[in-house]
Amino acid sequence: MTDSVSLTQKELMLNAGIALGILIPLFFCCSFWTVVFYIGAIRLIGNISFLYRTVKEYYLTKQLDLSQRYGEGTYALITGGANGIGLEYANQLAKMNFNLVIIDLNQEALDKAKEDITKASPIKVSTIQADITRLRSIADYNDLLKPLRSFDISVLINNVGAASTLPFNEATPSFVSTIMDLNIVSVVAFTSLFYERLLARTNGDKRSAIITVSSSSSYYPVPNFFLYSATKGFASYFMSTFMKEKSPKIDALTACPGFVSTSMTGYRKDSITIGPDLCVKNSLRSLGNFSTTEVTYKVRIMISGIMQGIWYIDSCLFNKFLESLGTSDANKKAFEVMSKRERQLFKD
Ligand SMILES: *[C@@H]1O[C@H](CO)[C@@H](O)[C@H](O)[C@H]1NC(C)=O
Repeated sequence: MTDSVSLTQKELMLNAGIALGILIPLFFCCSFWTVVFYIGAIRLIGNISFLYRTVKEYYLTKQLDLSQRYGEGTYALITGGANGIGLEYANQLAKMNFNLVIIDLNQEALDKAKEDITKASPIKVSTIQADITRLRSIADYNDLLKPLRSFDISVLINNVGAASTLPFNEATPSFVSTIMDLNIVSVVAFTSLFYERLLARTNGDKRSAIITVSSSSSYYPVPNFFLYSATKGFASYFMSTFMKEKSPKIDALTACPGFVSTSMTGYRKDSITIGPDLCVKNSLRSLGNFSTTEVTYKVRIMISGIMQGIWYIDSCLFNKFLESLGTSDANKKAFEVMSKRERQLFKD
């Protein structure tokens, strides 16, 4: 997904040397995430381009004027935008003077979002209630989007998605296809449906944007997260393919945050979890300058640590460490909340 994860033999040897001195003692005294962070940090020392790219994104990049870049008074369309990260995109884009189209399953949440946002910002908000898993044909999408024909939509945010922490043996076909509809089909469908439209408006110096909310679990098959990891892997891979084919007039960004405290994660709170406000703020800051973001430098370094860890340490052994994702107390609790919610949501 990112070229920064492949290692040359030389780099590997250099890093392995540094690692032996620092990592082995660390394994005996620190938490899993601390160790992962340090492995990533060592990678930073050994890889100047990774270091440069990280510093550039998190310390040198300033927020671009997005409403100027994509057009004053244009619309941002957000799927799954009445809750969590999607709602936060709505709030922050409203403050940047974008008008909004919010699509969501939950009418009540849509009404509340509209009321709160229009109270805070003098912008227009249109809401569309829809169950995205029921959209099957182009005609379904055309019906859904008919009211938007005259809207100048400049930013598409593929945000809708669902977590999946159910064990293999509990994943029924209908559960699997719901998760795939939300995390995969919606991303490809909305991107391809809006592409021509976003392109058509980029005359002169106007630009358009597509953000897809993926996940840092798209980089590596995370134990206990099998379907989520796999579907987010698809979303990220699709976006990186799309980026090679898209017009340079369209800014595309894949956001790959770690844990974000929303209903999806059972409002998880710990040192590796960030709030939706920071997640969205940082991803909007990267939009236009970068094609992928891990949203915080910490997660970026940890992802690098995980990829690197697989090289340093036998990958089976490393998997054991990763499994602590599911077995530490905090994670166990979070996963229980999540899978309970999933069982309720996806009762056959
Ligand atoms: C981000 O993009 C803007 C506009 O294209 C450019 O002027 C700026 O130098 C870029 N910033 C970085 C840190 O690359």
